[in-house]
Amino acid sequence: SVPSLASSDGFLQCIREKIPSELVYTQCNTNFTAVLASSVRNPKFFTNTTVRPLCVVTPTHASHVQAAVLCGRWQGVRLRVRSGGHDYEGLSYRSARPEVFGLLDLGNLRAVTVNRWEYTAWVDSGATIGELYYAIAKNNPEVAFPAGECPTIGVGGHFSGGGVGMMMRKYGLSIDNILDAKLVNANGELLDRAGMGEDLFWAIRGGGGGSFGIVLSWKVHLVQVPPMVTVFSIAKTLEQGAIDILTKWQDVGPSLPGDLTITVMLSGQQAAFRAMYLGTCNSLVATMGEQLPELNMTSADCQPMTWLQSTALSFITFTNNRPLEEALLSRTTSLSTFTKVKSDYVTRAIPKAAWKDIFSWFTMNGAGLIVLEPHGGLMAAIPAAATPYPHRSGVLYIIQYIAFWQGDGGTAATTWLASFYDFMGHYVSSNPRQAYVNFRDLDIGQNVAADDVSTTSRSGKVWGERYFMSNYQRLAAVKAAVDPMDYFRNEQSIPPLRPIP
Ligand code: FDA
Repeated sequence: SVPSLASSDGFLQCIREKIPSELVYTQCNTNFTAVLASSVRNPKFFTNTTVRPLCVVTPTHASHVQAAVLCGRWQGVRLRVRSGGHDYEGLSYRSARPEVFGLLDLGNLRAVTVNRWEYTAWVDSGATIGELYYAIAKNNPEVAFPAGECPTIGVGGHFSGGGVGMMMRKYGLSIDNILDAKLVNANGELLDRAGMGEDLFWAIRGGGGGSFGIVLSWKVHLVQVPPMVTVFSIAKTLEQGAIDILTKWQDVGPSLPGDLTITVMLSGQQAAFRAMYLGTCNSLVATMGEQLPELNMTSADCQPMTWLQSTALSFITFTNNRPLEEALLSRTTSLSTFTKVKSDYVTRAIPKAAWKDIFSWFTMNGAGLIVLEPHGGLMAAIPAAATPYPHRSGVLYIIQYIAFWQGDGGTAATTWLASFYDFMGHYVSSNPRQAYVNFRDLDIGQNVAADDVSTTSRSGKVWGERYFMSNYQRLAAVKAAVDPMDYFRNEQSIPPLRPIP
């Protein structure tokens, strides 16, 4: 059962004293449920049995965040922080175990300020990446930022975990392009890069959200793009040679020039090859003819558009049939589709014969889809310890497995996902089997609370080394230095490094 709310009276009283009442929603407030639901992505974590926060605080100023942390520390109530609410396990707004906690929703803190002369921008954590893309490109259509592909993703969680996207082969992940940040630590202090020091600044760029403090804003380095980019999407069925092309793509995709990224989505009995090229149709056709002629890509497949339109294309054209830039500003999320996601990294190309077996999984009851995103390019040149994201040189591509269902139909989909993931163990990285922290998966391990204030380093290692490999140890050491009492804690937060008895 959920511990008594009465133990939290002191916390709520402190919050009421220090933060304007119109920014605080307790469970008695009629708008509580709507505010809590506002950025929930996955209805799995919005049920009657979900462990919900005691209150939702919607700060409009850094001082509100500082006050909430101090109230939480004084009264022994933890905070969870939510930027865009896209965490695949809902860790930003629900607890997997009974726990009393307050929720800080940063949705009101979403300014984007572009400095066009410096090629930089400050972006608040509560902005979505769609809002960031829009603000940057409307200021100058020839600058951009490398980040993910769903416009409603929140900057706060996304940057905390990495930021995989269509420009990473050219410019790296989002975290490779962050210059400064403002963070509220476990003592309620507001620190910039100089104030927090290089170890903590390293940890917050990829070490996963919810461990080190609350990042309020980020200074990013903007990158150059041509006025028009070229995209294509070509689907091939098994009869049309999908397996041969896919087998070859595994080596070609990661070794193409950084300007060209080709991802693959497998569902049903087909592979959909989707590309974004920072150049013209003519040179794309020439490159494809040399590198992957089996795909038969021609100029008829070229869709020229601005980079901004290309970011709207991936998710939004499914409903609009054209890339509508303003759609990037919509924060609407839907509670109709339930999802469960897992991830893998491939370091040796999967043999052709195995792809036949893999495709047979997509005929099964409950089958979902997988998305393959190539690394290589700049990703391979960045040292594994430069940021907490260790999956650099030697990685061919990342696999994202997505199971989805509507209503009560989850058993077939999640059973399919678990069995397929087991089967794929033969073909992917091992010792450890690597995973991406932004594709959060509690199946790979959870913290075990040793007492009220600490989680053990040992239970964290189980999942932590899969997300961060040898960077895990440094993350745990940073945590011990900046939050030794483990105030910022969730099921997969970095535990403070302690000697293992
Ligand atoms: P949310 O608010 O749920 O936070 C995620 C975690 O970070 C939580 O633990 C939270 O407490 C913490 N956190 C949030 N704000 C923080 C802050 N300001 N300071 C400190 N901690 C904070 N990823 C990717 O790399 N490339 C992609 O293309 C996609 N595509 C994609 C599509 C869809 C539909 C979904 C649902 C997800 C993705 N993702 C992705 C994964 C996404 O990057 C990941 O879920 C991010 O953590 C989401 O960030 P939000 O702020 O939205 O999440």
